[in-house]
Amino acid sequence: MNLDNVKVLISEEEIEKRNLELAEEIYKQYGDEEVTFLITLKGATPFAMDLAKKYKGDCVFDFIRVSSYAGTESTGNIILKVPVKEENIKDKNILVIEDIIDTGNTMKYLIAYLKDLGAKSVRTCTLLNKQARRKVDVKADYVGFEIDDYFVMGYGLDYDEKLRQLPYVGYIETNK
Ligand code: IMP
Ligand code: MG
Repeated sequence: MNLDNVKVLISEEEIEKRNLELAEEIYKQYGDEEVTFLITLKGATPFAMDLAKKYKGDCVFDFIRVSSYAGTESTGNIILKVPVKEENIKDKNILVIEDIIDTGNTMKYLIAYLKDLGAKSVRTCTLLNKQARRKVDVKADYVGFEIDDYFVMGYGLDYDEKLRQLPYVGYIETNK
């Protein structure tokens, strides 16, 4: 994979600035109440960690892993690969942290799953929103950036498992 082909869509500086704004907005919501940052593996980890570092309230971390993708195509089938413990969800304020909402299938599944486990509240925060590709009706409570229909990579997002380590969100320019 040649990094020279990856163009910057959202820079490290823009992300850092937006993370601070989001952390402040989220704090306004929860104030003194504890919130669980439920981090969706693997893609949301860099974003969640940077966001958490800017969060002033009480938060705890938990992790969940679902998968709906093979390569770069959404299959629409959600597979729960790493579940959460019911006791970590029941009666808790859950903030799902995602890297991107694309078709919306994953987020819709997660919200239903967490409500089923008895969460006190379920809210959602996504770094990126690709509204043009939505297939089911879900809307995140907190959105870092709205993006057009690009396949993006970096800052946690993968290109066939690679390029998650990039400090920015990028895309590969194709020759038309
Ligand atoms: P959804 O269920 O279609 O909303 O897909 C959500 C998941 O698909 C995300 O959590 C990502 O893992 C993956 N995904 C969707 N679009 C992209 C992209 O542009 N780059 C990398 N991963 C993506
Ligand atoms: Mg993901």
